[in-house]
Amino acid sequence: MSDFKENILKGRVALITGGATGIGKEIARTLGKHGAKIVITSRKQENLDAARQEFEKEGIKCLAMSSDVRNPEAVEKVIAAAIKDFGGLNIVVNCAAGMFPAPIERMSYNGFKTVVDIDLLGTYNVTKAAFTAHLKEHGGCIVNITAPFEHWGVSTLAHVAAAKAGIESLTRTCAVEWAPLGIRVNSVAPGFISETEGVKRFGESQDVSVDKSLKGTRQDMANAVLFLVSDSARFINGVCIRVDGGATIDLLRMPVV
Ligand code: NAP
Ligand code: COA
Repeated sequence: MSDFKENILKGRVALITGGATGIGKEIARTLGKHGAKIVITSRKQENLDAARQEFEKEGIKCLAMSSDVRNPEAVEKVIAAAIKDFGGLNIVVNCAAGMFPAPIERMSYNGFKTVVDIDLLGTYNVTKAAFTAHLKEHGGCIVNITAPFEHWGVSTLAHVAAAKAGIESLTRTCAVEWAPLGIRVNSVAPGFISETEGVKRFGESQDVSVDKSLKGTRQDMANAVLFLVSDSARFINGVCIRVDGGATIDLLRMPVV
């Protein structure tokens, strides 16, 4: 649970893609615990159902509907169902993503394309569909989950780094185009977040080499998103909040003592 007051999101409806597992699930739970009705979507209906049951036991209203974010029509159906069942859509968190570590020489054309399709095009599809169906008329708030890679070279993650940098750019463009309509668009860039699929895919050996001050939790991520979608962030637009314990700015990693 966060330190924010309960019910600060009362009356709002929040869509979280990738909301049945990992970071997305904690974001969904946290927004729900603060009063929002929650819509979660991803490909695997069994994961969505399990998360929905957990949330409902905690008193959170939840719609769990499968879609592949690469498919605009499927995404439009989820958004239409959210609006029909919950009466609107105020918050969108784009968290669905895919990754596998591989150097470019072992990354096929389709492997690169697949990750860009899920992360960057998926974010565009959901953002555009939500804008058209509701946010354009009513305002709202979008948070894109990226990674703190935009200005770096990132070995074995060419696809993820390129896609997430694209999402950062899209975030800023949406922010300036839609500010006059009362829509804020920001991003949150996680560093090393423990107990997640992302970290698991990087391997346990990487885990032990990371200083504990640079290991965050899923709740750390959810708290940053909660702040951005709350009214306390009403004048914050087009920014990226890095939630990485400072890892990305420690360029030389020199021992202090
Ligand atoms: P995760 O649990 O695997 O989350 C990814 C989610 O995306 C899953 O729920 C997955 O569900 C969904 N998804 C994948 N492809 C999809 C598609 N085509 N359509 C719809 N949903 C799809 O991994 P995580 O580590 O928590 O990552 C969450 C976010 O944080 C991602 O955006 C990731 O890039 C970002 N991130 C994580 C870390 C970290 O330390 N873990 C670091 C930097 C950035 P289905 O399989 O059911 O579709
Ligand atoms: N190493 C190299 N290439 C890989 C790979 C790996 N570990 N895993 C997949 N690929 C390649 C495949 O070989 C395929 O390319 P090809 O057609 O040239 O052979 C391409 O990537 C697409 O794979 P496919 O399994 O068909 O894609 P998908 O759409 O079913 O799944 C992934 C997408 C690959 C990203 C899958 O790992 C996934 O669903 N991830 C979601 C969860 C996740 O990644 N969580 C962490 C988020 S940070």
